[in-house]
Amino acid sequence: MSRGDWEAKCSAIKEHYLKTSEEAASLEALEELQIKCLGRKGELTELLKALKDFSLEDKKLLGPLGNSLKETLSALFEARKAALARLETNSQLNAEKLDITLPAFPVPSGRLHPLTLSLRRMADILKSLGFSWAEGPLIENEFYNFDALNTPTHHPSRDQHDTIYVKTEKGPRNLMRTHTSPIQVRYMKTHKPPLRAFAPGRAIRNDSLDASHSPVFHQIEGFYVDKNVSMADLKYTLTAFMGGLFGPDAKIRFRPSYFSFVEPGVEVDVKCVFCKPGEKCPVCKSTGWIEMLGAGMIHPNVLKAGGLNPDEWRGFAFGMGVERLSMLLYGISDIRTFYENDLRILKQF
Ligand code: PHE
Repeated sequence: MSRGDWEAKCSAIKEHYLKTSEEAASLEALEELQIKCLGRKGELTELLKALKDFSLEDKKLLGPLGNSLKETLSALFEARKAALARLETNSQLNAEKLDITLPAFPVPSGRLHPLTLSLRRMADILKSLGFSWAEGPLIENEFYNFDALNTPTHHPSRDQHDTIYVKTEKGPRNLMRTHTSPIQVRYMKTHKPPLRAFAPGRAIRNDSLDASHSPVFHQIEGFYVDKNVSMADLKYTLTAFMGGLFGPDAKIRFRPSYFSFVEPGVEVDVKCVFCKPGEKCPVCKSTGWIEMLGAGMIHPNVLKAGGLNPDEWRGFAFGMGVERLSMLLYGISDIRTFYENDLRILKQF
């Protein structure tokens, strides 16, 4: 090959690959060109190899020419490859366009039952007042449910409770507890006074099911035993509790009442929070007050049953219906709503 031929070949290669690399439409095509030009047997590689047959003088002249073309073309191929890769990614992204405005498939999530929610709220308020959580058995015995609570054996209030008895082998008769008050005595027997506790739980009475009664319902028992506990402490505690539940304007009133395990005993009303001036109120029947719970000073006989000396210790106790309070809290008018598990209702909480 003459020097002229070599030079002509070199510029032909240059022109060819400048043009074809520009036209290459895919990464593969470009890759192929690069190999054809710069691969082990590529055109330019072969041309450079052919230099070995030239004179030293020619080599000095043609060598740099060929090497600089090699550099130029290598750089060109890399640049084109990068550009093409970008283009390919872009067109891929455009083709695969994600519509992020498309609504996702809804995943239904579980939630807490309204009674659980309100019970937790009530528990939080009582805890903030210094009461601790206590529990007792749902299957009680006659002693804790009645005797220890100062209910004489043949007292009619035993019948009023519509007790469901459970088969018992020996000892005091077993029953489904009709209220949470037995937990008072169990707690006194297992804890040292001063005591301040609340006991949430289920209670069961052989009652019919209607808008305001359910044979299974929930109560929260609260009690405080210390040296100088008075009705004033009871009133303060219940005012603070109702305030926490219904807002700072909540008012309560005491009416005399009878429960065998307290003396004096009271029925506690809460000022109706639903009354609107000039309108008939369906909740309190326009009396302005809603009967809410029973309470009183713990009877000395109950303290005795709990192993405490009534000359030394005094206490108050209250028992309230969780459903009743929750109905007011959520504006629910039928107690059965809590047990029907209608998702349309449960989903609102
Ligand atoms: N245990 C009573 C009931 O179920 C409520 C109550 C509790 C009353 C504590 C006074 C003191 O009706």
